[in-house]
Amino acid sequence: MQIGNQHHRAIEALPGSGRVRILDQTFLPHEVVWRDLSSAKEAAEAIKVMRVRGAPLIGATAAYGYAMALAEDPSDGNLASAYDTLHATRPTAVNLRWALDRIRSMAAPLAPDQRAPRAWTEALHIADEDVATNEAIGKHGLEVFQQAFVRRGGTEPLNIMTHCNAGWIATVDWGTALSPIYQAHQQGLPVHIWVSETRPRNQGAALTAWELSQHGIPHTLIVDNGAGHLLQRGLVDLVITGADRVTAAGDVANKIGTYLKALAAQAHGVPFYVAAPVSTIDWTIDDGIRDIPIEQRASREVTHVSGRGADASTAEVLITPDTTPARNDAFDVTPAGLVTGIITENGVFPATKEGLAPNAIKA
Ligand code: MRU
Repeated sequence: MQIGNQHHRAIEALPGSGRVRILDQTFLPHEVVWRDLSSAKEAAEAIKVMRVRGAPLIGATAAYGYAMALAEDPSDGNLASAYDTLHATRPTAVNLRWALDRIRSMAAPLAPDQRAPRAWTEALHIADEDVATNEAIGKHGLEVFQQAFVRRGGTEPLNIMTHCNAGWIATVDWGTALSPIYQAHQQGLPVHIWVSETRPRNQGAALTAWELSQHGIPHTLIVDNGAGHLLQRGLVDLVITGADRVTAAGDVANKIGTYLKALAAQAHGVPFYVAAPVSTIDWTIDDGIRDIPIEQRASREVTHVSGRGADASTAEVLITPDTTPARNDAFDVTPAGLVTGIITENGVFPATKEGLAPNAIKA
């Protein structure tokens, strides 16, 4: 990722220290703040309060956190309890479980004194693989964009709508849904991005808009409720989002509001793509509406908004009556039938049980 013309990763291991440095996303877009995590407790806190967020980055952070936990105490007891603590931080993003499972199955058979160094090496691999995976997602997504560009005449910029933030800072680097956007821009394919604000935490307004600005990619912020209107007016060529979990049959859990965009896209004949690594597919379930756990977050995220005042101070303000209750489901599920295709590191696959079968997608 690019911050002020310098290349960074959203999480970077500090060599020889057993620590990692993260970009603390709770300060964006106003300040770039790096923060060191040096314990499993700090890693769990960073995931929970969303200093790091986005399914692949949550997975990579949990992997480092698990390695730190084993450095603190490599016993069988801690192998189990650190897994549970990290796993409980955010329930919907399946990459969290995937990364923890990967570390645990590698560490469990080892003697305790070998666990921490091997877990750290595995966490490094998870982070490096994430970068390569997302770059490959971008390559396949770019082909989808090129075809759409030609279909609409091959002259005017392609109007792409996205939701939440599935960019650099939702992953170790590149992003998922934004990876093809960065690659399109690099290759001179003209794109313009509709960025939906993504209430209540405003990942679109605060994070996606910031990333695209850093990269110089033309974009326009819209209110979440504006998506249907733009789709109806023919102002969107394609919708692309990330995913926190995709079931074996192609249902997609992603940031709340994704489902409404998919419904509106289908109503207006606009393709709706989901970009996600294969590690986001949960082959243990088919029915996303029934079986994907939806994270419930604090009502305060809905009743309050925070922002920066003219004096550059940050403030949080109440926007409801004092006593109004609020419900805050962090994700929704888009049924497979609304998804045009799942863009993975291995190619673009239909959102169906056959299309996503492990022997088809991992080949
Ligand atoms: O609650 P968040 O900000 O972690 O939600 C993020 C999303 O919904 C992303 O679209 C998803 O994790 C994919 S990130 C590459």
